[in-house]
Amino acid sequence: MTSSLVFICAASGFGSKNKYLFGHISMNIKLVPQDSAGTVTAFYLSSETSKHDELDFEFLGNFSGDPYILQTNVYANGVGDKEQRFYLWFDPTTDFHNYSLLWNRQQVIFKVDGVPIRVFKNKEALGLAYPSSQAMKIYSTLWNGDSWATRGGLTKINWAHSPFIATYQNFGIDACQWTDSTSNCPASNSWWSQVSFDTLGSKAKSQLKWVQQNYMIYNYCTDTKRFSTTPAECTSGN
Ligand SMILES: *[C@@H]1O[C@H](CO)[C@@H](O)[C@H](O)[C@H]1NC(C)=O
Repeated sequence: MTSSLVFICAASGFGSKNKYLFGHISMNIKLVPQDSAGTVTAFYLSSETSKHDELDFEFLGNFSGDPYILQTNVYANGVGDKEQRFYLWFDPTTDFHNYSLLWNRQQVIFKVDGVPIRVFKNKEALGLAYPSSQAMKIYSTLWNGDSWATRGGLTKINWAHSPFIATYQNFGIDACQWTDSTSNCPASNSWWSQVSFDTLGSKAKSQLKWVQQNYMIYNYCTDTKRFSTTPAECTSGN
């Protein structure tokens, strides 16, 4: 199935009816082609509670031919501010590419075409928040982010180039569907809770390193202007 988000003025989006706690969520997306400057196309999970958890892919548009930025973020117990930004190793507007999350008790892996670009580890044992108890819905939205998204907000949306259209295929949810009556997801025997998914294998580790060395352009962990002390989850072990 193919569907499109068409964005002309306010914003547009779709979301899942059900909530999930842990699993593998995947979507093929072809991003807004040509002049997408000022637009943000997001694919994310959110619990939408007052201290919510959220896992984000945000694609920051650009002038035709200039590179998109993929921004990832994690909110745990209502606190975000954990951005990492990447350029992609392909043009995300000419073809569908796969963006996915493997989310279990131990880690969240952000993947692009199966290549891990970011891993967020559970460090609850050290007193740090992790998205481990709030079921989340899955959303995709397309909206005006021109106050910040492109060249830090310098480049505004050119409405003469609307409509802005992102196209979606093969929405894949292989995850534990949460029902408030059973609440049994964390105990499930699903494939994503097997020990082999608690860490990265050696191939995935070297892929992650390749992305971090060649495509990562911002990491909140090393932003000393913004955080005078390094955020705890960045320093305390693996
Ligand atoms: C847009 O293109 C400019 C120039 O290549 C680049 O500096 C910037 O990182 C690109 N992406 C965004 C979202 O601003």
